[in-house]
Amino acid sequence: KRPPASILFIFGGSGDLNYRKLTPALYNLFLDEWMPDQFAIVGIGRTEYSDEKYRGHLQEGLDKFSRRKAETDSHYQEFFQHVNYLQLDAGDIASYQRIADYVCKKEEEWGVHPNVIFYLAVAPQLVPSIAQELGTLNLCKEKNTTRIVIEKPFGHDLESAHELNDLLTGLFAEEQIFRIDHYLGKETVQNILALRFANALFEPVWNRHYIDHIQITAAESVGLEGRGGYYEHSGALRDMVQNHILQLMCMVAMEAPVSFDANEIRNKKVDVLNAIRPLKKEDVHEYAVRGQYGAGWMKGKQVTGYREEKGVNPQSPTETYAAVKFFIDNWRWQGVPFYVRTGKLMHQKSTHITIQFKDAPTFAFPSEAAESWRSNRLTISIQPEMDIRIRFQAKRPGQTMSLDPVNMTFTYDNSDDHTPEAYETLLLDVMEGDATLFMRADQVESAWKVIMPILETWENRHPVDFPNYVPDSWGPEDADALIARDGHAWINLPPE
Ligand code: BG6
Repeated sequence: KRPPASILFIFGGSGDLNYRKLTPALYNLFLDEWMPDQFAIVGIGRTEYSDEKYRGHLQEGLDKFSRRKAETDSHYQEFFQHVNYLQLDAGDIASYQRIADYVCKKEEEWGVHPNVIFYLAVAPQLVPSIAQELGTLNLCKEKNTTRIVIEKPFGHDLESAHELNDLLTGLFAEEQIFRIDHYLGKETVQNILALRFANALFEPVWNRHYIDHIQITAAESVGLEGRGGYYEHSGALRDMVQNHILQLMCMVAMEAPVSFDANEIRNKKVDVLNAIRPLKKEDVHEYAVRGQYGAGWMKGKQVTGYREEKGVNPQSPTETYAAVKFFIDNWRWQGVPFYVRTGKLMHQKSTHITIQFKDAPTFAFPSEAAESWRSNRLTISIQPEMDIRIRFQAKRPGQTMSLDPVNMTFTYDNSDDHTPEAYETLLLDVMEGDATLFMRADQVESAWKVIMPILETWENRHPVDFPNYVPDSWGPEDADALIARDGHAWINLPPE
């Protein structure tokens, strides 16, 4: 069923996120017949564009970034009939009335009051003032139909996130606020819930009695991609751990929800964040490792070091790599380490979660069989591969009792273009008013609480060994030591 009539106002309409992600996602929804029968997309920005020029600009983005290519030009034409541009200076209060006028016009034309969605794809410092102005428009009192979408970063630390929440919840009801974490829209991430809670097989062993440890890796092979100005004030912990990685951890560690209600799922997730053992500042060096890449080579191409990137301080203490060991203090997870890590310019792009099971309690096979014996392991590959693998032992065919580890694999069909992109799922959910895959105010703040001791310790103690890893590697040596101290090693790539 398609969502009800909707108008999407995209602040930052001439910006990169809209060009690369939002318009391609809306276009794919359109081709897949998920867009409402009546819809309008209005890009808002300071740059001057006619509707025609704006559409031309976005079409270029579609050619480059859309999952589905236009089968015919008529698809483009049909889609762009719904797209307009509104040149508006976000600082000019009077011009917001034009937004309200646009809604009135559409309401008359369509004969229904549409959903009004404000998507703030703008620099974080602009969010408070835009939200403030929108909040004063009469439209925003329409709790069931007006929504505001906030991109990350949501705050810079716990205090600023709390202030932003205060501001937003003063202007909008919580159910009107959609805080994006695009990892939650990824198919493979959503599938974690299906794997865990739609099968009877896993839940009985999904706990400290059977699981030895868990690893979460989000390795990126890209560097800053021209975002030095933003990244320099962020770093890997804020950019990836506070949001994406902690959300993956919640999906893996949460208790079973009793329903698929948005608040029920979010309650179960926030329970995980609240149970993560707070790190004492004096222990941070034992539990967390930071890294920064220097100059080097990446797949045969020379790359500059982080400190030489545009927008970066030549003595920058900002980390481009972070690894942390967490514990969750509840009955299910007591004593099970969760090792998480992320980094830029890693040897390969790979986001995956490994559930390492304990050894079988006794080993009754002949001693030769022990050589190739490996304990069970479940690997959930989020990207670029999208699959789930279980490693178990099987008898090698022949007259002797020899064992071999083998994999049983479920693979998403990557060969066609049917897997929706994260932003497609999330934008559809916003139009439908389903907040399950979005961050609630308390979730965001609990996630900040988890990383604050690390952030503060690192900010107060500047790194002496930066840069400490080279491009095309798996990060600094200290990160290997972090996990080796417990007798484990990072699993860099999912098994073939
Ligand atoms: C964003 C970060 O949230 O996620 C980027 O700001 C990062 O630095 C990106 O590259 C990774 O997303 P994905 O979907 O490519 O894994």
